[in-house]
Amino acid sequence: MKVLLLGGGAREHAIGWKMAKSPRTSLISLPGNPGLAELGPVVEGVSATDVGAVAAIADQQDIDLVVVGPEAPLAAGVIDALTRRGVRAFGPSRAAARLESSKSFAKTIMERAGVPTAAAGVFTNREPAIEYLEKRTGPFVVKADGLAAGKGVLVTEDLHEARAWVDRCLSGDFEEAGYTIVIEDYLAGPEVSVFALCDGKTAVPLQPARDYKRLGERDQGPNTGGMGCYSPVEDLPDGLVDWTLDHVMGPVLQQMETAGTPYRGFLYAGLVLTEAGPRVLEFNCRLGDPETQVVLPLLEDDLVEVILACLDGKAHTLDLTWSDDAAVDVVLAAAGYPESPRRGDPISGVATAAAVPGVLVFQAGTVRQEGTLKTYGGRVINVVGTGASLPEARHRAYAAAQAIEFAGKQYRPDIAGKSKGT
Ligand code: GLY
Repeated sequence: MKVLLLGGGAREHAIGWKMAKSPRTSLISLPGNPGLAELGPVVEGVSATDVGAVAAIADQQDIDLVVVGPEAPLAAGVIDALTRRGVRAFGPSRAAARLESSKSFAKTIMERAGVPTAAAGVFTNREPAIEYLEKRTGPFVVKADGLAAGKGVLVTEDLHEARAWVDRCLSGDFEEAGYTIVIEDYLAGPEVSVFALCDGKTAVPLQPARDYKRLGERDQGPNTGGMGCYSPVEDLPDGLVDWTLDHVMGPVLQQMETAGTPYRGFLYAGLVLTEAGPRVLEFNCRLGDPETQVVLPLLEDDLVEVILACLDGKAHTLDLTWSDDAAVDVVLAAAGYPESPRRGDPISGVATAAAVPGVLVFQAGTVRQEGTLKTYGGRVINVVGTGASLPEARHRAYAAAQAIEFAGKQYRPDIAGKSKGT
């Protein structure tokens, strides 16, 4: 079976690694990365968001299954384009991907589904937005409705700053993404994410992981895309995953079906554990990065078969099996990350790290130029240690992380250690 994977980060490297273990799968990646290139051919020179080109390539190359890692191709309609060409593809249609690509759409669906979330107002004009804002007490949360590369959300105690954010959005600073804004109440409490695979009716949960969003030790420094994570997580509230299935994912899938936009694909529910109980902060139509890098190595089932079962509407028959092992992921980031990551630093030691027993190396911001692996993005490499216990997995991850060298390498020394992460 020819499987085309869209995306090129460490999450996709982990998805590709897991799918390549499936006995009847041959993997092709677009655009891939140097790590994915070791697992099968990569299609170069085409963006995963060029949905017409992706669909044409899938059709010409007789691809049997397309799996999508990041959200942008989904929001651009890649599943619709593939389906029109008769290519099987796992992910939500463009209309269903609005659960992530439109925060106001997600609010509407949650409201109809009775899902607990922050009270919110949706605006396209300044005056009613400012009036609504001035009636709230801080912290104020102002969000550009659409995808704005993670930069469209402001959380502030300062009403002036919140007003200015309304103006930035409505005056086009985030282009189309900001012409509608969502102003919502602040949710106080620790954040937890629950991931699932969905077939339109049923959500099958993955084992939870905990990530670390801040750049520095003890959760100091700027926010990042995620500096590491671990799984399993022992101290989650009892029954949280089941609660999320019953009170969030199930009702949302039902509403999406009723709305004529059934949701198939990976679904990520970001929750805040408030004093009043869990509340949904947001949905993403993808898996978490870096969480995927620790969760998939612990999944014992064949991921391709699991995805095919979802595409056949048989998610209710799945009962995923998880290893008793633990996994710890340490992200190695480039000099200057997150503000201005430096590119072009030669990387050594990847093979040495990958040879440490129980270790997997997933690449993200890397490029191979004239035979040399170099940094090419903010989060460069994920080093995942697995083992019979969290300390063993952690020890292996750090031993391997030390084997990889590049100038300006940054990493947190406390993943799965004393800091709890987010
Ligand atoms: N780890 C958080 C995310 O994938 O957005």
